[in-house]
Amino acid sequence: MAIRSSSSDGRTRSSVSIIIVVGLCCFFYVLGAWQRSGFGKGDSIALQVTQRTKCSISPNLNFETHHGGSGSLSDLGISEAKSFKPCADKYTDYTPCQDQQRAMTFPRDNMIYRERHCPTDDEKLYCLIPAPKGYVAPFPWPKSRDFVPYANVPYKSLTVEKAVQNWVQYEGDVFRFPGGGTQFPQGADKYIDQLASFIPIANGTVRTALDTGCGVASWGAYLLKRNVLAMSFAPRDSHEAQVQFALERGVPAVIGVLGSIKLPYPSRAFDMAHCSRCLIPWGANDGLYLKEVDRVLRPGGYWVLSGPPINWRNNYKAWQRTKEDLEEEQRKIEDVAELLCWEKISETLEFAIWRKRINDESCPGRQDETHTNMCKSTNPDDAWYKKMEPCLNKYPKVSSAEEFAGGELKPFPERLSAIPPRIARGYVPGVSVKSYQEDKQKWHEHVQAYKKINKLLDTGRYRNIMDMNAGLGSFAAAIESPKLWVMNVVPTIADIYTLGVIYELGLIGIYHDWCEAFSTYPRTYDLIHANGVFSLYKNKCKMEDILLEMDRILRPEGAVIFRDEVEVLIKVKKMVSGMRWNTRLVDHEDGPLVPEKILVAVKQYWVGGNTSKTDER
Ligand SMILES: *[C@@H]1O[C@H](CO)[C@@H](O)[C@H](O)[C@H]1NC(C)=O
Ligand SMILES: *[C@@H]1O[C@H](CO)[C@@H](O)[C@H](O)[C@H]1NC(C)=O
Repeated sequence: MAIRSSSSDGRTRSSVSIIIVVGLCCFFYVLGAWQRSGFGKGDSIALQVTQRTKCSISPNLNFETHHGGSGSLSDLGISEAKSFKPCADKYTDYTPCQDQQRAMTFPRDNMIYRERHCPTDDEKLYCLIPAPKGYVAPFPWPKSRDFVPYANVPYKSLTVEKAVQNWVQYEGDVFRFPGGGTQFPQGADKYIDQLASFIPIANGTVRTALDTGCGVASWGAYLLKRNVLAMSFAPRDSHEAQVQFALERGVPAVIGVLGSIKLPYPSRAFDMAHCSRCLIPWGANDGLYLKEVDRVLRPGGYWVLSGPPINWRNNYKAWQRTKEDLEEEQRKIEDVAELLCWEKISETLEFAIWRKRINDESCPGRQDETHTNMCKSTNPDDAWYKKMEPCLNKYPKVSSAEEFAGGELKPFPERLSAIPPRIARGYVPGVSVKSYQEDKQKWHEHVQAYKKINKLLDTGRYRNIMDMNAGLGSFAAAIESPKLWVMNVVPTIADIYTLGVIYELGLIGIYHDWCEAFSTYPRTYDLIHANGVFSLYKNKCKMEDILLEMDRILRPEGAVIFRDEVEVLIKVKKMVSGMRWNTRLVDHEDGPLVPEKILVAVKQYWVGGNTSKTDER
């Protein structure tokens, strides 16, 4: 539904009274605990909770429609929470680290100006990003793949600029995505069919994909029904809001660019990488960008290139380029592919496909350090703000020519429940097969408990889900369903080796530092899971910086599940009450004695324009 569903008065009133009852109940618990023990004594607080109160948890909080006005705990006045004001309407599409004005102060060569450049502390906005007037909840998947409400992304520039290429059309008050793309005039489905005759997409061998320069992510959108999960990226550039369109469609995407910094993904992650007319100069800089693709491609992974210079003999006129120029560009790409020891699978129709070898046994050239510049860095997963280098990463060692370097993966979905090779081989410090299995079991139980708290969790109500501190990906594994996808974020100050495990499970994710803004547009996630985030960042940056960023990326009426020590959650609860969020504190599923608790929150619906006085439209 594009229209916000409105519940009947009766339903609203009953949920309001439930909230008030639960709120009062929890308020007295907090007050009692607070007066007696003060902060920083999780265990004793938890104990007192049990003694003083018997807060039975209402299972009926309505996550579907929160129209504000319901009494939340903090409104009852533990102490005055700071109230955050809306930002000016011009910030409705603010992307702090990809801001046009700041970008223009950086060099344009190698796309450096399109990379992440975040505001300094005194440039940060301490206000709430407003939704545009008329904002509505997106259509449910799969309708959202093809239709996006105009009010949510009110820019028609793409429909004009890419009109001939059939990317997107404007019809009434919605955008329609016919599934076209610059390189697939007959639709993305047909194009994927053609790829599938060379790449094992159908039998689960290829599960994770990377789309470089994705446009509105139609390739990723149509791969989903084949059970392939694509991480798409495009810079924030003149075709406004490509990545925002992708996320509004319910397709995974981030703002990103191949410039001078490594991609924020671990080594050996993707089963397939793809570029269709993505404008990345693959042959330039000694093949720097192809070497970066080689880093993130797993042994046996595929690289697909369509658009210039492929099939230049037929296309050079349409592309308005000379034959010589295009031939030279292709020669350079072939040279780098040869250096990388990639095997050319095919060059037919409008695309070419290479495959990264499963190990380097048949690549004496690649191992020869006198001729090849091997990377000095011992950790190819360490990518956050690290400069790309024109060097090759070593394959993990194998004992036979048939063995997959780093370990062979089961086809999806078996892959999701198998022990990931990086765990089996002890690649993640401190994580054994046994502790991995325990983590999975623990998160299975946590997610069962979440589903009791929020009955809408796996109904399709929440499509774009973010796990801010994903660890081994066990939350995403437990919640996995074709109705949703999870962006597994591994904080750069946590154990970064776990992101490789997440990809081995057939899930996707990214590195990020939560002291900075995430590479996405506002209102792009329906549900955010924040496990231990505020304990992790305790002395790293301000809690309000992180919470304001969460407010930016969360949709109106979207939900957050925090999981942390109770004293941390009490501070969070207080702060978000000044951000127009409704909250409820819930005990751990093992009972109130456990100091770890859950805080669930729902962002109220409000939009920009002349609404500054009230929370409600
Ligand atoms: C999937 O298909 C490819 C190509 O046809 C084949 O080589 C591979 O063995 C298949 N994998 C499974 C698990 O069936
Ligand atoms: C907001 O209010 C001002 C004055 O009250 C008015 O001039 C302006 O048009 C209003 N803007 C919107 C978006 O309604």
